[in-house]
Amino acid sequence: MLDLIKSRKSVRKYSDKHIPDEDLRKILEAGRLAPSWMNVQCWKFILIKSQETKNLLSELSAGQVHVKNADALIVCVADLNGWEEAKITHISKPALNPALQGDNGLLIRTMEQIIYPISYMMLEAESLNVKSCIIGALGNEITGILPEVYARVKNILGLNSKQILSTIITLGYEAEPAPVEKKRKDFDDVVFLEKIGSKF
Ligand SMILES: Cc1cc2nc3c(=O)[nH]c(=O)nc-3n(C[C@H](O)[C@H](O)[C@H](O)COP(=O)(O)O)c2cc1C
Repeated sequence: MLDLIKSRKSVRKYSDKHIPDEDLRKILEAGRLAPSWMNVQCWKFILIKSQETKNLLSELSAGQVHVKNADALIVCVADLNGWEEAKITHISKPALNPALQGDNGLLIRTMEQIIYPISYMMLEAESLNVKSCIIGALGNEITGILPEVYARVKNILGLNSKQILSTIITLGYEAEPAPVEKKRKDFDDVVFLEKIGSKF
């Protein structure tokens, strides 16, 4: 697993080769199986293959070219309805039930859950040699940018008022394979034993 993590990088230039549906299903299945708070699974994943919708989503992400040039996209939707659907209303302690943590708490918790399937899907893609890039710079309820484009996107994707387009994952084969260059903070700058400042 660590080797897979080391080999993953964001790829933004894709070849014309198509990803087989079988592999797309595996990637989406990895997302479906991700963990969530009380197994609430407050997410939806929309596979996009049509050029028209890719173009619109590129517009939503402030014109990012790799969004329209990717072979496929996965639109990741944080679904605020998920908590009610999961029927965890019997848990009355707010600490244990995000649905009782106020609108802001619920929003943050819902956005938090979707990070796990996104990570799982990226790693599954990597294991299939399908390269990806997370797109977070886009218009939605959180950023408030490009509201007209976002309204069109929500309509076309069939999202209701409680379903937030949180992230897009671009997928494709790397056009110009290049070595991975991991630019990360040093281990001792981010990992500590018992308290900040004490090395592991
Ligand atoms: C939440 C999130 C949002 C991101 N948004 C974008 C984006 O809008 N466009 C983009 O090209 N890359 C985006 N990235 C990719 C990061 O720039 C990239 O992961 C980071 O620079 C580290 O590089 P690496 O993925 O190659 O290791 C995003 C990554 C994350 C985790």
